[in-house]
Amino acid sequence: MENIIPHNFYISKENRNHQNGHSSFVVWFTGLSGSGKSTLANLVEKDLFDKNIKTFVLDGDNIRRGLNKGLGFSRAERQENLRRIAEVAKLFVESGTVVMTSFISPLEEDRKFIRKIIGDNNFVEIFVNTSLEECERRDVKGLYKKARAGKIKNFTGIDLPYEAPKKPDLEVKTEEETLEDATKRIVLHLQEKLEITV
Ligand code: ADX
Repeated sequence: MENIIPHNFYISKENRNHQNGHSSFVVWFTGLSGSGKSTLANLVEKDLFDKNIKTFVLDGDNIRRGLNKGLGFSRAERQENLRRIAEVAKLFVESGTVVMTSFISPLEEDRKFIRKIIGDNNFVEIFVNTSLEECERRDVKGLYKKARAGKIKNFTGIDLPYEAPKKPDLEVKTEEETLEDATKRIVLHLQEKLEITV
């Protein structure tokens, strides 16, 4: 590290934000597998995209199959998974993009660490609060069934805990609110932070 000296670039985040006509930050969705994180991240992105905002979604499919291929679900591997995602999200923020992330991120300590990497001002935490019973009932990917049968180990909610955020910026209860209403509420919440000028 001592011989790696950061370069000063001509174009700053502020320049990019100014040109785009909006600020950039991370909208971090956390919740159990199958809680609806990716669905919501997608819907929020679509809404923002239609408003001409620069957006991107990072989720398990594009990260765990690519950048983080080979990382499993042990404590250390999840930490490394999330550390890399946080660093990538931070770069996206620097590039002027509003980033939606969709990862279980089950532990308070890890979410604190993520917030530290990204920076408090650039981090909006959304807790997708769907009960384990409901996620298991939906079992879209059939993984809960496998976890209950002992075919998958270290599965969040089954043999590893999910620590609910105590003070998320926003909480969505998907069993009580439609996806459409939740999306509207999230976008409304982001409105001020976006500082849209165009
Ligand atoms: S995290 O804990 O490191 O944040 P991440 O969101 O990247 O998890 O990956 C979770 C997704 O991987 C789940 O939605 C599920 O599809 C799949 N998966 C496979 N094995 C497990 C496991 N043991 N625990 C949780 N999710 C798993």
